[in-house]
Amino acid sequence: TETLRSLAEKNGIYVGAAVNVEALGKDERYSKILAKEFSLITPENSMKFNVIHPDRGRYDFSQADALVDFAERYGMKVNGHVLVWDQQLPDWLTKNHFTKEELKAILHDHIRSVVSRYRGKVWSWDVAAEAVGGDGKLRDTFWSRGIGADYLELAFRWVHEADPEAHLRYNDYGGEDMGPKSQGIYDLVARLRRKGVPIDGVGLQMHVELGNFPNEQDVRRNMERLAAIGLDSHITEMDVSLPMPATADDFRAQARVYLNMLQACLLASRCRSFSTWGVTDRYSWIPESFPGLGDALLFDQDYQPKSAYFSICSLL
Ligand code: XIL
Repeated sequence: TETLRSLAEKNGIYVGAAVNVEALGKDERYSKILAKEFSLITPENSMKFNVIHPDRGRYDFSQADALVDFAERYGMKVNGHVLVWDQQLPDWLTKNHFTKEELKAILHDHIRSVVSRYRGKVWSWDVAAEAVGGDGKLRDTFWSRGIGADYLELAFRWVHEADPEAHLRYNDYGGEDMGPKSQGIYDLVARLRRKGVPIDGVGLQMHVELGNFPNEQDVRRNMERLAAIGLDSHITEMDVSLPMPATADDFRAQARVYLNMLQACLLASRCRSFSTWGVTDRYSWIPESFPGLGDALLFDQDYQPKSAYFSICSLL
């Protein structure tokens, strides 16, 4: 019988989930559903700077290794997440005053160490994330302040050196449809392309709510303008938060939002993957980060598929 994974394969896209390494280790239902229904894994936290590089010059690959091994065992792709971001950075990095040259050397070493360890095992890398502000301008971040405006360009080149086969992406939220932020993202990646910087795609995070989600046509137009400059697009972190407790109507509306966004991806010429930010409502970042909201994923707390699951399957 068909699964989300097998249906997505027929449509030529990967269907992914952010994976919580503790849940994977302790809950057999979690690993079963992950391997059965999904073809792409994004480590939810295990490859972030503070986890994988907890002290200066010391790396801890244990969590990331476990996820990459799991993906290999079940024939799944891995999206590495995330190399250059200004959150979840360790204190040793942010509480010291490094010079520009020192920071460059630290980031270069970080990228070389992490990317080369998973060379050939990671399909795509979220090289940089959340570098653009709501106004479309480049944000002032830990890395831009420390290294200078060329930090993005350097990072993409360093990742490409460490793994020339991996697909390199820029990943952000709030730039899914047409507007100042997606324009800023487009301008940034177009500039990188013109300069010959190795970048292959853009990730649209797609953290949305019932009262606030992008228009399907605009998402598709955004994807098409990226395709026109040779870039793939990906829906990388979709969740549709509901007000808690959610009603039957909420679940139906949620299913439509999932359906619309998958539709945009399927109709766009170069949308290659569709990922949700988690597997089950039992383990999701939403209730903790946005109190009062929840039930945002395709499987409920008891691992039962929701309307959203059936609606996206019906489209594939
Ligand atoms: C979130 C994780 O889900 C949480 O467990 C963690 O505490 C904070 O980060 N955009 C991203 C992800 O790119 O890395 C974030 O993940 C959610 C928003």
